[in-house]
Amino acid sequence: MKHLLATEGLEPEQATAVLDTADELKKTLLGREVRKLPTLRGRTVITLFYENSTRTRVSFEIAGKWMSADVVNVSSGGSSVGKGESLRDTALTLAAAGADCVIIRHPASGAAHRLAGWLAGEGTSVINAGDGTHEHPTQALLDAATLRERLGTLAGRRIAIVGDVLHSRVARSNVHLLNTLGAEVVLVAPPTLLPAGVTALPVTVSHDLDAELPAVDAVMMLRVQAERMHGGFFPSAREYSLAYGLNEARLRLLPEHAVVLHPGPMLRGMEIASVVADAPASAITEQVRNGVHVRMAVLYHLLAAIEEKTQ
Ligand code: CP
Repeated sequence: MKHLLATEGLEPEQATAVLDTADELKKTLLGREVRKLPTLRGRTVITLFYENSTRTRVSFEIAGKWMSADVVNVSSGGSSVGKGESLRDTALTLAAAGADCVIIRHPASGAAHRLAGWLAGEGTSVINAGDGTHEHPTQALLDAATLRERLGTLAGRRIAIVGDVLHSRVARSNVHLLNTLGAEVVLVAPPTLLPAGVTALPVTVSHDLDAELPAVDAVMMLRVQAERMHGGFFPSAREYSLAYGLNEARLRLLPEHAVVLHPGPMLRGMEIASVVADAPASAITEQVRNGVHVRMAVLYHLLAAIEEKTQ
């Protein structure tokens, strides 16, 4: 793999290789006082974020540092982007400065693909850390890692993705990856929060959360992305929470083994009740923990695996 831009098109073997590497890294580092591997010594990783982030930016930085890479963080606020520099010029500048990998988050769908095109001659890898409403592939990989840990396998499992699917790059990446790994996906959302092309996706669709919960192995709650809702007929916060919020009563409808996921940041009391977010069924903290190992695994497969094979 040269880049990780999307889970759509990712081969099952590629996805499984990343997840297996993440498992190995987690086992290797567990309980260690010094969490440092020499794998990426001398490599430079740059995070380039045009949108806010806590989990993704921090876990990529930790992942790079635990693998001994030099990690540099660039955000649109503190860089020459604020003076009007274009994304292309910014990318070429980072490559010329020595970036082996640029990890980009951007509000425009397709930004990571454009970056990979511009950097094609530079030998720089690109990782999509979330582009508009398009994809967030490392989030889906860490979700899959968490589900594998809790459920053993994804093949044949039924996963509900609930809420604001329309604006969710997390949902899109999960639909493709879960499908690739053999799981069945049901999207549960009000009609106005589903994308126009939903019938082309490998999913079933439901508007009735209560009817779906007893038959799923996991439920992935999505954040309601008010910042991307410009016009349109969206339910009010109260209507949304009543129909699609995962509350204590709904938690009781789930099978005993079912897992609750949320990519964060959570709007407690809106899409998920506090008591559910903190319940034993919730794997939300594990998702964050696994995010570091999964991002280490992605960096390994992009920057180190080929070198190791050719040595
Ligand atoms: N899940 C996720 O992408 O979180 P951040 O926006 O905090 O990175």
